[in-house]
Amino acid sequence: MTLMAAPETHPGATTLTALVVDPNLDSRLEAVVAAKRAGIVVAAEAAYGAEATFLAVEREPSVILLSLEEPPMRGLATVEALHRQSPQIPVVVYSSQADPTFLRRAMRAGARDFLEKPMRADDLAEAVQSALAQERMRGEDAIEGREGRGGLGTIVTVAGAKGGIGKSTLAVNLAIALRQLTGQEVALVDADVQFGDVSVMLDIEPTPERCISYLGRGSMEVTRQAVAESVIPHSSGVDVLGVFPEPQDWRAVGPARIARIATALAETHEYVVVDTPGTINELVAASICEADIVLLVTSLEMSSIKDTKTAVRILQLLEVDAGRIRLVINDSTDATTVTPSDVAEATGLRVAQVIPHDKQLGRSVQRGVPILLEQPKGRFPQSVREVAGAIAGVATQQPRRGFRFR
Ligand SMILES: Nc1ncnc2c1ncn2[C@@H]1O[C@H](COP(=O)(O)OP(=O)(O)O)[C@@H](O)[C@H]1O
Ligand SMILES: [Mg+2]
Repeated sequence: MTLMAAPETHPGATTLTALVVDPNLDSRLEAVVAAKRAGIVVAAEAAYGAEATFLAVEREPSVILLSLEEPPMRGLATVEALHRQSPQIPVVVYSSQADPTFLRRAMRAGARDFLEKPMRADDLAEAVQSALAQERMRGEDAIEGREGRGGLGTIVTVAGAKGGIGKSTLAVNLAIALRQLTGQEVALVDADVQFGDVSVMLDIEPTPERCISYLGRGSMEVTRQAVAESVIPHSSGVDVLGVFPEPQDWRAVGPARIARIATALAETHEYVVVDTPGTINELVAASICEADIVLLVTSLEMSSIKDTKTAVRILQLLEVDAGRIRLVINDSTDATTVTPSDVAEATGLRVAQVIPHDKQLGRSVQRGVPILLEQPKGRFPQSVREVAGAIAGVATQQPRRGFRFR
């Protein structure tokens, strides 16, 4: 999918222009300098409010860079106004507050990406390219839908608002189940670039040259071949793009890269399963925007429901078509304070699958052998096979709950 190509594959194709919205003059100057370094022409500068919305209409910039600091109310109101008035111009927020609540509030207001200050020129360039690519894709989607992907494989992103709810366990076992069910090529991407544990679950060892961060380096072009050389084949037949635990490197993989990695793998694999971290950051947003199917995982705890409601709102802001979202309840904690129908009611989504609690899981995780291989008849493996069957459109042995995608 050329639409999501990383910036480096289209150097300077068209001139990018920006409107910089920042009430603080020093901070604004820094943003202007970063924009220029990133090859973006600053078309106008403004403080919050009407000045910004007026200039957005008058100058029609490719992108709006907007500063958000405490107290955020006026900034958020400006993001909302800009998003309402010119929804086709992506807003990229920058801030010295890297905290996730701040990020969520910005995204809820309509921001497309979030950068921490001081902004590095290449991060900014990547964020802008990614925001524009998402924008183009949105337009394209409206016309031709996801079928427009041509012969590409199906990208399944496993996401959720929290950690510890079984996303990685599901992603790993789902990839193996898809491989077993269909016999086709399956790739598994660990997009939890900071704390990813997919490799531990599969007992494989990524190296600095065979891991996801390798593909994030500025000099790396994310070609099909580069991706193929970075994956590690697991004995199950699944190709794994894992995380090498090297803290300096995790920032290198930006949203445009992750999207490109997923599509590059979808050129060679029928299924690409993407595991994500426990918050919806900009990388997760990109993985979600790129997905054909989003498995939104939640547990049966009160707090998880609250967070899943927030996640659903974020997905709406990202304009992820509800038809692509599948709510999966995973009873990972066995602390069933609420029922699946409570979750459905709270989130407004139909429950696609309930994965039961399975005590065998703890042991298999410790040994680095996925439960689907070790205890294939167990409750968790059976349930995961149903999910895989629904995704692949293949009937499993006991079709029970009508989990159908197509
Ligand atoms: N259905 C389940 N039954 C029992 N334990 C589970 C279940 N799903 C997940 N777990 C356990 O929950 C823990 C967290 O799972 P993990 O996949 O790492 O979550 P996440 O990726 O969302 O942070 C693991 O120890 C895993 O074995
Ligand atoms: Mg995880």
